[in-house]
Amino acid sequence: MGPQAAHAKITSEMTLSEKADAIEEHMMHELDKIVTKSVFANLTDGHVDMEGGAALQKKYPGKYFNMGPDPRLPPMPEKPTLLDYFKHRFASTNHLLQSGALALKNGHSEKVVLACLLHDIAVVSFIRCDHGYWGAQMIEPYVDEEVSWAVRTHQALRFFPDEAAGYKYPEMYLKLFGDDYKPEPYIVAEYERALKHKWYMTSRLICINDIYSFDPNMKVNLDDFVDIVGRNFRQPEEGLGLDDSPSAHMWRTMMWPNRFL
Ligand SMILES: [Fe+2]
Ligand SMILES: [Fe+2]
Repeated sequence: MGPQAAHAKITSEMTLSEKADAIEEHMMHELDKIVTKSVFANLTDGHVDMEGGAALQKKYPGKYFNMGPDPRLPPMPEKPTLLDYFKHRFASTNHLLQSGALALKNGHSEKVVLACLLHDIAVVSFIRCDHGYWGAQMIEPYVDEEVSWAVRTHQALRFFPDEAAGYKYPEMYLKLFGDDYKPEPYIVAEYERALKHKWYMTSRLICINDIYSFDPNMKVNLDDFVDIVGRNFRQPEEGLGLDDSPSAHMWRTMMWPNRFL
């Protein structure tokens, strides 16, 4: 323990959350730079709150703010690729790999396989709310328009059965959301637009190959998709997130989520 440990004294009278805060604060004192959370991280914790720069520097005297990688996260290569994000930033990849593998097994085109492989990247790396829209925006500059369109739209199509295509309303959604859950009007409107769209089936195929119940014994290797990604994802030479595409900032934020600015 460093000399700063006094800032984080843990006593038996503290509540669990006070203890967690104290441990977190202790960890912060151990770091060379001040690492602070974005407001969004506080919002998702249920607080509308931010700590100002001056107050933080007072709390951690003599230190500057982190303007680079977060030392607590796995380091990223100098020129990261999509696969590096899979390995170092996606919290879970099983669902994506298994969905991609099923699409491959069902003999679908590379576009459909890629769409299945990427359909939930927002959930595993970034944010759940509106994950189809976020995921689509992240990949849009790098993939065929049909792929990003399908990723965006699967979020709506998930809630509407198409029995003729072999897609029922998911049992799991009854379990997760209850049987009286109704999608919001913007989701209904998205579905109605999608029904008339020329790429409707591409998005529907994401839903059909979307795997809910995992087979724990089934191991799918990311290596199985290296060639398909190589042919269908335009990897920027500078590194994904270090290029000037309209969504590069989203990848950078994932790479360096705790830069002060
Ligand atoms: Fe999804
Ligand atoms: Fe999914």
